[in-house]
Amino acid sequence: MKIPVTLNKTKVILDAQADEPLVKVLHKNGCPSVKSACMEGACGACTVLLNEVPVASCKIPAGLVKDMEIITLDYFEKSDFFTIIMDGFNKAGIKLCGYCNSGKIFSAYQILKNTKIPTRQEIKEQMKHLSSCCTDLETLVNGVIYAMQLQAKRLKRVTKIEGEK
Ligand code: FES
Ligand code: FES
Repeated sequence: MKIPVTLNKTKVILDAQADEPLVKVLHKNGCPSVKSACMEGACGACTVLLNEVPVASCKIPAGLVKDMEIITLDYFEKSDFFTIIMDGFNKAGIKLCGYCNSGKIFSAYQILKNTKIPTRQEIKEQMKHLSSCCTDLETLVNGVIYAMQLQAKRLKRVTKIEGEK
């Protein structure tokens, strides 16, 4: 079937089976950052933004995304948000191995773009499925908090994160 979408800010028609996992379709359509790994929605390797919400694209049938906006890391890595998140991660000493970096980066983005300032515990809850061999959960949470602080500095906002000393 033909599926019109906006992919990385460009209107395209995806040619796919309705039940084909979106991750496979995106990979075929020039998005190498979208990786197939567990195919169970657990690891984060296939994460994309679907209408601004991070989703595991291995669990989304291509037929469902008609007329929706999809952003992959291939495009997102040119954004200011990406730079802020990576600066925060670097400050925490995080060295992403690349296996599930899109899951970590898009989950951090979801926290950063929310106007409500989360507690450390809330950040932990949101990121806990993404702790991994290359990043333990506490370090990952530190990276998100550093990114929030950098963003606040940029917006000249004072950020007090509950649970921080
Ligand atoms: S491949 Fe989709 S979450 Fe692991
Ligand atoms: S980025 Fe996910 S395991 Fe390294």
